[in-house]
Amino acid sequence: ELNARVEALLRQMTLEEKVGQLAQYSQGVPTGPGTGRADHEQMVRAGAVGAFLNLVGAKETNRLQRLAVEHSRLKIPLLFGFDVIHGHRTLFPVPLGLASSFDPALVEQAMRRAATEAAADGIRWVFSPMTDIARDARWGRIVEGSGEDPYLGAALARAYVRGYQGASLAAPTSVAASVKHFAAYGAAEAGRDYHTVDLSDVSLRQVYLRPYQAAVEAGAATLMSSFNTLNGVPATGNPYLLTGILRQEWGFNGFVVSDWNSVQELMNHGTALDGAAAARQALTAGVEMDMEGNLYAPELPRLVRSGQVSEAVVDEAVRRVLRVKFALGLFERPYADETAEPPQPTPESREQARRMAEASIVLLKNEGRVLPLGDSVQRIAVVGPLADSRVNMMGCWPARGDAREHVTLRDALERRWKGRVVYAKGTGILAQGTEDFQEAVKAAASADVVIAALGEEAGSMTGEAASRTSLGLPGNQEPLLAALAATGKPVILVLFNGHPLVLTGLQAHARAIVEAWYPGIEAGNALVNLLSGAVNFSGRLPVTLPRGVGQVPLYYNQLSTGRPPGAADLTRPPTATENKYISRYIDEQNAPLYPFGYGLSYTDFAFSAPSLSAKGLKAAEVPRQGGALQVKTQVRNTGAVEGTVVAQLYLQVRGASTAQPVRQLAGFARVHLAPGEAREVVFPLGFEELSFVNARSERVVEPGTHYDVWVGDSSEARAHVDFMME
Ligand code: IFM
Repeated sequence: ELNARVEALLRQMTLEEKVGQLAQYSQGVPTGPGTGRADHEQMVRAGAVGAFLNLVGAKETNRLQRLAVEHSRLKIPLLFGFDVIHGHRTLFPVPLGLASSFDPALVEQAMRRAATEAAADGIRWVFSPMTDIARDARWGRIVEGSGEDPYLGAALARAYVRGYQGASLAAPTSVAASVKHFAAYGAAEAGRDYHTVDLSDVSLRQVYLRPYQAAVEAGAATLMSSFNTLNGVPATGNPYLLTGILRQEWGFNGFVVSDWNSVQELMNHGTALDGAAAARQALTAGVEMDMEGNLYAPELPRLVRSGQVSEAVVDEAVRRVLRVKFALGLFERPYADETAEPPQPTPESREQARRMAEASIVLLKNEGRVLPLGDSVQRIAVVGPLADSRVNMMGCWPARGDAREHVTLRDALERRWKGRVVYAKGTGILAQGTEDFQEAVKAAASADVVIAALGEEAGSMTGEAASRTSLGLPGNQEPLLAALAATGKPVILVLFNGHPLVLTGLQAHARAIVEAWYPGIEAGNALVNLLSGAVNFSGRLPVTLPRGVGQVPLYYNQLSTGRPPGAADLTRPPTATENKYISRYIDEQNAPLYPFGYGLSYTDFAFSAPSLSAKGLKAAEVPRQGGALQVKTQVRNTGAVEGTVVAQLYLQVRGASTAQPVRQLAGFARVHLAPGEAREVVFPLGFEELSFVNARSERVVEPGTHYDVWVGDSSEARAHVDFMME
């Protein structure tokens, strides 16, 4: 029925009206370079616009929607898109923080909330999830995704899509997801944004494509093509990716939008000599909508009329766009309810955001159990440029978040320990001078404990176009930390940042280190619950933290080399008697400072040796869906307080036709345990977990392979079992 409606409409459309559906323009604050100054209202009346971005609000969107639905010839509704990536009015932690929860169910609920708020504001399309695997800590956009692991990334990609799109896209509270950036944008050389990507097909498919594919399989309505080249071909004009893999292999039925201006940028890449060639390349490769590129509208009618692009290609693109508009129910309900109050954070949404933040904050170090802070603490000094900065709690891409509604660490500490908190900023995020150190040091010296809130500026130092070559604390924050530590008072370092930072030099100055990322609207309250022990830490790192920038890109699921360092992972050059010819540095270990999957708790957990539901498996009998083998382990809370552990399963395949990672995540589960309580955790292993990509780019399980399996609470898990795939 939906297809019949699309065809009936398509038959009535002029070529210009068809091309209009493929054009998207920005209104409001631009999220890319420059912006067109065309008369958008006139264009809407003429049927020359398919979608807008950055125009938000029921009244504002309805105003243009009315022109489309009541004053254009064919009355085709507009689609309004916006960068809602970690909440709309109620901001949740930034996506890297969400990933640290290892909790797809919580993430799904958070995105359901985001969808409901966005839809009430006239937005039915969000540019999220960002499912780009990121292994390079220098890349600014690492904060916008789920980190370095394809298995976690895929699980969370599904959660985002389910949350945004709900049970049915047609529900007025559902929004279409746009999975981005297709593809492999996170693998930019040297971590520099928009830079070249060169990847083997095996890595592309085994690592990078998995989360996008999971999102497509979960029903994502749209994708966004990426800025980068992939193996020499720009992703926005890449038929291998957009047609071969996305449509032909994965059966994707929705539409692809370009990234901002990325159709035009085909000329900068040098694969198109002019705008006409760029438009032809992008459309024929499989980009249906031109975001703020202003190229499809002028070029496509000419290209069709001169026979350089077949009208059938344009028709197919229009069909895909219209299908999504019909699926969203826009033809039946084009308007947002402008009589209703605009969406606001509510007590319930704040509670949800606080719980999400509590699950996403990672305790990295807790020397001498300096945390939790007890009731007996008499005086707390809270110091640092991020202790009382509301705007920074929002993180990058704050959608319609309002900084004034955000709770800082200082706010929440003062509420919890009334009259016992002293605050001093100490320095700015990027400041060079030390003139304000003195006040901070004085506050520290007067207190029992010092909380130093340090990190990166969310808006300018993280997210798009914010790659860094150094990964330390900016400005003079590190000297400030050293000065605070020199008072001899215990220092608790709370980090607000988007890049995985190098903490090697800082470690000595802090008794405890808390990785908060940017926690969102309830930042301070979540942190105080954790610091006081009212809630236990349960977040785990979704990225590896390096010892030094020279190790980057550093990720746990690397391939082995022919000359692995084994135990000789040293910081010094080899001596004359040691084997020098191994894969290592002469001035640094290979090992990270903190590994993927790591995070402390106020209690301890022990894992029993895992057991298997069968002795081995036959490759030919591993079903495509469902589990083939179960791995069981018992996890026990051996400490004195309740807590949640993220039980993790890693495996290594040996004897395969392609080299495989030394470890890869293949299962995880959050388990809440009372002191002394034990629970059995069952990890199903099926085709998704056991398969890998062979040299012919096929996902396979191969007979004659050996699987090592480890369970535990980080990528350094030790409890082990193994089996053969016959
Ligand atoms: O969605 C974003 C994308 O991630 C980067 N360029 C701009 C788009 C729209 O704002």
